[in-house]
Amino acid sequence: MSATPRTPVPTDLDRPLPMSLPRLAEKKRLGEPIVMITAYDYPSAQVAEEAGVDMVLVGDSGAMTVLGYPSTVPVSLDEMIMLARATRRGLTTPLLVCDLPFGSYETSDEHAVSTAQRFVKEAGADAVKLERGGTSVQRARAIVQAGIPVVGHLGLTPQTATALGGYRAQGRTAEAALAVARDALALQEAGCFALVLEAIPAAVTAELMVRLEIPVIGIGAGDATDGQVLVFHDLLGIYDGHVARFAKRYADVRAHMIAGVAEYAAEVRHRNFPAPEHFYSIDEDELRRFRDALVS
Ligand code: KIV
Repeated sequence: MSATPRTPVPTDLDRPLPMSLPRLAEKKRLGEPIVMITAYDYPSAQVAEEAGVDMVLVGDSGAMTVLGYPSTVPVSLDEMIMLARATRRGLTTPLLVCDLPFGSYETSDEHAVSTAQRFVKEAGADAVKLERGGTSVQRARAIVQAGIPVVGHLGLTPQTATALGGYRAQGRTAEAALAVARDALALQEAGCFALVLEAIPAAVTAELMVRLEIPVIGIGAGDATDGQVLVFHDLLGIYDGHVARFAKRYADVRAHMIAGVAEYAAEVRHRNFPAPEHFYSIDEDELRRFRDALVS
């Protein structure tokens, strides 16, 4: 038996090719905008797949949008892995990036690498994302050296929002903007293949873009970035909590869901549901035999 793996012959040639790191770099080079969205489960992943996005992020925003925590901080590694596994099952084309949750990577390189390896082995992640500069630069380097692609995340980093003074825009003084610039260059030098910039002034982003060679994905960072990311539940209007000013709402799915469930409740209460078209039938003879057996 040959040890060489066989490349499967493609059966559907119209199907888009799976997204890869070189293809993302090529998109940046060609100036083609990169589309990223979060997803946390099988149906949201299928929606992202069918809509043709380039990258899907299993964000720790799922702590709030699907698990109901008050912030991203409490979500555990096991909970994130469960969300990532469900998301993976709904995806074939976009690049799957998974957030390392708070407390799962900060203390040592070994901890960071073993957390990242869990996402790859157990959830089929293509890459992981971690927040902040500072010590996270070395953690990113260690994960990249272990062979796992890493996305950095700077600006408003929700895992450390308390230390940043709350959920507010960052980099609004020259010093603060310089700190973002230094961290961005350090993460690039550490081997991150992409960077997310969240809630920083558009003019600061524009200055950074001239200096960064890796694809930069923005969320509330203006329009100079190579791509944009939005939280699935914000974009579709599913989440009822606070929505940041940068989150454009493209649909009001929550209102449709409430209307649907309310109509179902009303029909059950008025005995309008179920109707005959929802019933199963039984052969008359079988029914008679059944009734006879019941009385005998
Ligand atoms: O957790 C998340 O959804 C994120 C995006 C906002 C980039 O990190």
